[in-house]
Amino acid sequence: MSDIAEVLYTEDEVQEQVGALAQAITDDYGGRSPVLISVLKGGVVFLADLVRRIDLPLRLDFMSISSYSEGGDSASGVVRILKDLDHDIGGEEVLIVEDIIDTGLTLSYLMSALWARQPASLEVCTLLDKSVRRIPMLDIRYRGFDCPDRFVVGYGLDYAERYRNLPFILAVTDVNALADQPHALDPFVAAVPGGPAPAR
Ligand code: IMP
Ligand code: MG
Repeated sequence: MSDIAEVLYTEDEVQEQVGALAQAITDDYGGRSPVLISVLKGGVVFLADLVRRIDLPLRLDFMSISSYSEGGDSASGVVRILKDLDHDIGGEEVLIVEDIIDTGLTLSYLMSALWARQPASLEVCTLLDKSVRRIPMLDIRYRGFDCPDRFVVGYGLDYAERYRNLPFILAVTDVNALADQPHALDPFVAAVPGGPAPAR
């Protein structure tokens, strides 16, 4: 459909992994009431599907962070909290739900900040793990896919805020072409069942 991107994980493949992760979480946290934390905005699509398949009395909370990458030290992973959690996580069983972990620097910084609040436990569930790119040591309890080192969009992941609503995941083959034409992947959006009709 496009020379710029190809389907990396189909909707069925994504949903199969979401189901497997939800089952593992349900089994591991049986009898407990974890707090699932999502980092806006990329993680929300995955979170929404995941929680509806977890059979536990869980709670949700959200954070929004921004990295200091523009002009600052992009390799530090130091982040600024734009929106903090609504509730104290002291003594809680906390599970961070992420769309993708790349270098892991952002997550590592976030985890130190959350450990300082003394949760009973702090674990990570990510749909995609670009493990070959990992810099700090991170113990990731739940992962959907060990993702190749490619730029991906869809299922929450964006390019310039676009394509989060795709129910599948695309690997971008030509990132420069996408930078020149940010709408280049619109045909994939149009192809989503019930999605916008293709332009005539
Ligand atoms: P890290 O600190 O390098 O692990 O950065 C992770 C963040 O970078 C993710 O939460 C995403 O927002 C973003 N990111 C990393 N890889 C991709 C990708 O392939 N597509 C879209 N966003 C990505
Ligand atoms: Mg993210």
